[in-house]
Amino acid sequence: MRDATPAQTKTHLKDYATVPVTVTHVDLAFRLDPQATRVRATLTCRRQGPGPMVLDGEGLRTLSVELDGMRLPHDDLIDGDRMTIADAPDGFVLRTEVEIAPDRNTALSGLYMSNGMYCTQCEAEGFRRITWMLDRPDVMATYDVAIDADLPVLLSNGDEGARGRWHDPCPKPTYLFALVAGNLVAASDRFTTMEGRDVALNLWVRPGDDGRTAYALDALKRSMAWDERVYGRAYDLSVFNVVAVDDFNMGAMENKGLNVFNSRYVLASPDTATDADYANIERIVAHEYFHNWTGNRITCRDWFQLCLKEGLTVFRDQSFMADMRSEAVQRIGDVLALRARQFREDAGPLAHPVRPESFIEINNFYTATIYEKGAELIRMLRSIVGPDGYDLGVQLYFERHDGTAATIEDWLHCFEEACATDLSQFKLWYSQAGTPTVTIRQDWADGDYTLTLRQHVPDTPGQTGKSPMPIPLAFGLLGADGTEIAATRLHVLDVPEAVLRFQTPERPVLSMLRGFSAPVHLDIDLTEGDRLTLLAHDTDPFVRWEAGRMLAKDRLMRMVRDRTAPGAAWLDAVHALATDETTDPAFRSLALGLPSEDDLAGSLHDAGVVPDPAIIYAAREDAHAALARRLADDLPRLRAGVATPGPYVPEAADAGKRALAATLLRLQTRLDDGNAARGAYAAADNMTDRMAAFACLLEAGDDDVAAAFEEDWKHDRLVMDKWFAARVSHAPPARAVDVADLLTRHPDFDPSNPNRFRAVIGGLVGGNPAGFHDASGRGYDFVADWLIQMDRSNPQTAARMSAAFETWRRYDADRQALMRAALGRMRDRATSRDTAEMVGRMLE
Ligand code: TRP
Ligand code: ZN
Repeated sequence: MRDATPAQTKTHLKDYATVPVTVTHVDLAFRLDPQATRVRATLTCRRQGPGPMVLDGEGLRTLSVELDGMRLPHDDLIDGDRMTIADAPDGFVLRTEVEIAPDRNTALSGLYMSNGMYCTQCEAEGFRRITWMLDRPDVMATYDVAIDADLPVLLSNGDEGARGRWHDPCPKPTYLFALVAGNLVAASDRFTTMEGRDVALNLWVRPGDDGRTAYALDALKRSMAWDERVYGRAYDLSVFNVVAVDDFNMGAMENKGLNVFNSRYVLASPDTATDADYANIERIVAHEYFHNWTGNRITCRDWFQLCLKEGLTVFRDQSFMADMRSEAVQRIGDVLALRARQFREDAGPLAHPVRPESFIEINNFYTATIYEKGAELIRMLRSIVGPDGYDLGVQLYFERHDGTAATIEDWLHCFEEACATDLSQFKLWYSQAGTPTVTIRQDWADGDYTLTLRQHVPDTPGQTGKSPMPIPLAFGLLGADGTEIAATRLHVLDVPEAVLRFQTPERPVLSMLRGFSAPVHLDIDLTEGDRLTLLAHDTDPFVRWEAGRMLAKDRLMRMVRDRTAPGAAWLDAVHALATDETTDPAFRSLALGLPSEDDLAGSLHDAGVVPDPAIIYAAREDAHAALARRLADDLPRLRAGVATPGPYVPEAADAGKRALAATLLRLQTRLDDGNAARGAYAAADNMTDRMAAFACLLEAGDDDVAAAFEEDWKHDRLVMDKWFAARVSHAPPARAVDVADLLTRHPDFDPSNPNRFRAVIGGLVGGNPAGFHDASGRGYDFVADWLIQMDRSNPQTAARMSAAFETWRRYDADRQALMRAALGRMRDRATSRDTAEMVGRMLE
């Protein structure tokens, strides 16, 4: 079996070289057919240095190759996935014709079919599955596309001439190419840019989905206006098309002028989408739109520079969301996601720098580190050079690099020049993996307050002995009564150890890492009293929330270790916050949320305790029950206080109230066996409230509700994804694997649809950790079996999900052996280099 392991050839950043022959214009003619699509490509080529032209092609049936009209013996030129044109002239035209079968493309990369619709996904290296080409981002060409098919809608990038004839005047790399054809209907609108360009906006969906497009279209217009107002960037074509596709490996894709979306991140109606869905739609619509400048007009020189477009664009979508909704709630949510995904990644065998130095399969590097940590680097850069410096640097970047394929160095140079600063030490953030720990020790005596700050960057796979990095620490000081005695200031800690001194008449309470100013672990000597003061009084909402979170975490870790009860001081503090009806409901809901099971497992491991997922689950249950009892008398009144009568509005204020109502209902369910939840389920007139009540009822063991929900929603695939995921996530851990297994036998379980696959398999891994980590190892075997099967049809999705096992070193010897055995089985049976690379790194 091991002989069949796919080739594990590494690509290295240090080996980057420009192509000797480039392509300046691409002319594509498609004759679409499910089993035998013909693609004729006419490439205008130009020599820019010595050497052969080497084109990429994967799974193509090559019919002909012509150079300047002369037929070449293509079998002699092609070796596997490469075609070499040895003695190409200075300028020439290369024409190829190939046949491909979109119908059999289950990897969802290249040209594939979804519900009878043709669509493409070319990032990162899918274009080579469509035709022979230099499939790399530093080759930028203009495109003409002709689509012939007996279908009502034929779309590609750019502007449409005759029907199915598209011209894209903006030079772009292959990964931004897109084609969509099928029976689609559009919801349309218009937008006039600040430059006076009248842009047609079309959101293309399957007939029947046209009632669910309004929110995404509105989000698109708000994104366009925001990018003009905040970054001075306007849209550049006369049409902007967006298509919703049911079968999609990721969230969405920023193809030039033709964004393609996973339908779950576009389609929404109050009846079918939750507040979380609406927020995701708003964020992802903005993200893909913002790529038009940060990604498309300025693209990446090579895939090592991926964070150049992704980190920056995530930072832009986070800033947009903060403006559209609540800055505090957005920041806390961003930090929760960063810690859950990126800190976890950084602490395990898959840790890698924001700019990796090598990869086997680039698709494995669309990670939380590239995206979320990449965004944190932009945020730190902005706080170090200041908002005005940031604007100067960004504008210089747009001016200087528009229309080119750029690097991280290009980006940083713009800031060094515009802000007259040296960013060579800051650049370490791009090359050193691992989450730094900042240790803070305080000393106060006779009016002298001393802060000792230390930083440590941990070893990660392949990297040891790291240098100190510039860490921006935003902090303030409170008096014992909670009044602010020193407003926020910024200290950039760029040495291993620094000492700061202040004069304060009393021992202050330190409010450190305001706004989560750097992606670090904080080891800080705050007392429980300090934390209670910060939770009650700090002016920085992030630190306030964090103080409550640390109190909860301390409590829970003690409960896990010593099986103690939750403790009155913590319960009183949470009670005080929950019942303070002057505080934003969204914030109160966040403050009531306990650290996740996975978060606790990681923290216990860091503290030298081997985590037991079953005990962690039980401790959280106890803590929830104690909270419910402490709040018992208040729950009905508090829930009534956040009722949202009247028609559902998907806006932040109401969403915050619904979030708090859901949190309170969950506590109530522990006291009344689901009585209130049954009422809430029956009364729900929107999917947010319905899902909240549904989750409570599943946890209360009410099995009838699952059948009732299914009966009501079996016709709706996006709602049924929620049903599948909720049933697994909210099953009692001892039954979770059985429930997941049963659901994979459900007639509507279709593993070829990534959303459905992720709902069930991902629902177990991410939604029910105590079930996944069942001591018997059944969860590991179940997930490994499905990933092995998935790897044969859809390697990208299988490989991404294999990170379920990245935490194996945290656990006890028995679980480690079981997880390693599952990984070993996946390694032996991997058919893709995607999964082979992931599993190999986890076992190293
Ligand atoms: N560039 C896309 C984004 O950030 C991500 C993406 C969509 C992607 N589809 C993909 C990445 C397929 C790799 C493979 O929005
Ligand atoms: Zn992106």
